[in-house]
Amino acid sequence: MSKLSLDRILQSQGFGTRKYCRALIEDGEVAVNGTIVDSYKSAIETDGLVLTVFDEEWRYREHVYIALYKPAGYECSRKPSHHPGVLTLLPEQFTWREVQPVGRLDHDTTGLLLISDDGPFIHAQSSPKRHVPKVYQATTAEPVTEALVAHMLSGVQLHDEPAPLAALVCERRGDNQLEIVLEQGKYHQVKRMLAAAGNHCSTLHRSAIGGLQLADLGLNEGEWCFLEEEQLALLAPA
Ligand code: URA
Repeated sequence: MSKLSLDRILQSQGFGTRKYCRALIEDGEVAVNGTIVDSYKSAIETDGLVLTVFDEEWRYREHVYIALYKPAGYECSRKPSHHPGVLTLLPEQFTWREVQPVGRLDHDTTGLLLISDDGPFIHAQSSPKRHVPKVYQATTAEPVTEALVAHMLSGVQLHDEPAPLAALVCERRGDNQLEIVLEQGKYHQVKRMLAAAGNHCSTLHRSAIGGLQLADLGLNEGEWCFLEEEQLALLAPA
């Protein structure tokens, strides 16, 4: 159980500055569990709270956990330079909440990207000690050979790594198609491993993180959804 003043609650949910949130409340634009409240000093229970702002319902969330189906042509970096940032695909409210991508996908990689405003969650998910398998579908420029698959599974030496990195799974899925599962999340890892193994990655898609499958979320490219507890539990290390 936790009570907060209504202006703080609105601000925490990304509705804008404290000043702006106070004005919204005083203008009668905010309902709390269905009843308009026009004093920002009221202390409100946040457990199970549903706000209505400008006639739209908003369930209070202490933190947000978002899955985005990242399209190609968007950068995950905080200060994108050559392409728009992935956060531009989300409502502005999330920018106010200072959400950030959990790890990175390259600008031309598509697929499942997690986004959150929960610092410890982001840190834990990105930690190299956390062995959550990530599943990728790669299209290769040259045909997939048995030798390539064997090399990816036995370990590929990248020039800035102390030891070879091996894929947990590497399966041929077509003449130029591979499914690759990695436990680590090194910079450009799939592309660099394929290049070091003598091929070239033409397209890359991430279809799952741990047990969380993009296909189960019902998203089209560029769409996002909230992740609830049972889906977050699928991100636990195997
Ligand atoms: N490996 C890559 O090379 N790029 C990605 O975007 C993700 C994994």
